[in-house]
Amino acid sequence: MKTILGIETSCDETAAAILQQKNDRIQILSNIIASSASLQAKFGGVIPEYAAREQIKSIIPVIKQVILDSLLTINQIDAISVTYGPGLIGSLLVGVETAKVLSVIWNKPLIPINHLLGHFYANWIDHSTRSLPMFPFIGLLISGGHTDLLLFTDHNKYKYLGGTRDDASGECFDKCARLLGLSGIQGGAEIAKLAQKGNPNIYKLPRPMINSNDFDFSFSGLKTSVSNIVSPLTINHKLKADLAASIQQSIVEVLIKKAVKATQIYNIDQIVISGGVAANLSLKQSLSKSFSGKLFIPPPSLCTDNGAMVAAAGFFTKPISNPLKLTTNPSLGF
Ligand code: KG4
Ligand code: ZN
Repeated sequence: MKTILGIETSCDETAAAILQQKNDRIQILSNIIASSASLQAKFGGVIPEYAAREQIKSIIPVIKQVILDSLLTINQIDAISVTYGPGLIGSLLVGVETAKVLSVIWNKPLIPINHLLGHFYANWIDHSTRSLPMFPFIGLLISGGHTDLLLFTDHNKYKYLGGTRDDASGECFDKCARLLGLSGIQGGAEIAKLAQKGNPNIYKLPRPMINSNDFDFSFSGLKTSVSNIVSPLTINHKLKADLAASIQQSIVEVLIKKAVKATQIYNIDQIVISGGVAANLSLKQSLSKSFSGKLFIPPPSLCTDNGAMVAAAGFFTKPISNPLKLTTNPSLGF
């Protein structure tokens, strides 16, 4: 049995979780996400300085509470894992410096986690009713900052197949949400909600790069098409819902086409999805229909940024030999 405290502060969240691995199962003992999203919503996006200032205030209370909630003592925690990149420099520093200090004063190993890989480990959590992903699989990361396709052959071993050339799928959802006048930082969730009442066949939006001979994506043109429609659009709830449904369908179709193509070309029967956009129900439903292999998508609460995925990744990642040497890497990639 092993127990890990995970800390995640790459964007506007201050998140921590304690997870325990027993046999092959990883379970959440406690999980807290404090977000400055509602405070930031009025600015229409995350303001980095503001996010970091809120995180400095909440990091210690969040860690204290997650330990209390776990009903464990500090002695029962075996290691600390922390996101060291990519992300906002000020935000990353809050998590990394806190984790370094705790690692030294509590004498626990410190495990540096790449946030991008961390997202995939949400699929390894709490498997009492679900099976675990098996290698090899096609991994699709769809978040606010990333849209990437990878072929994973083992933990931390992968071939990068392709990614977005401009905006990420989540970023496109967020920018389109703003064009539609929707408030809130999780624009994708707002569009998904509105899309339930809309008809996706009224507006014909492009499916960028859907038939391109690679695994790359491009979503900035889709946002431009939406802005061309929105300007003359009188603010009418029904038309907004139709447009939301078209935006969602266009993004979902492109993501599915490329992910399924990767499984065919590499002869793989599993797709593992991660990142905030993976919370999209329409994506899950459409992919279940068009892909006959095994599909892994975390529950919605574990798709967006959280400490549990960082703790889960810690079970499969090596600790750093000298915790005090850990530095943040805001532009870390795959
Ligand atoms: O993974 P995440 O929490 O943050 C990054 O690492 O970027 O992803 C946030 C993204 C946002 O762009 C948000 O609009 C999108 O995930 N998102 C969704 C949904 N919920 C969150 N996109 C589509 N449908 C949703 N239900
Ligand atoms: Zn993320």
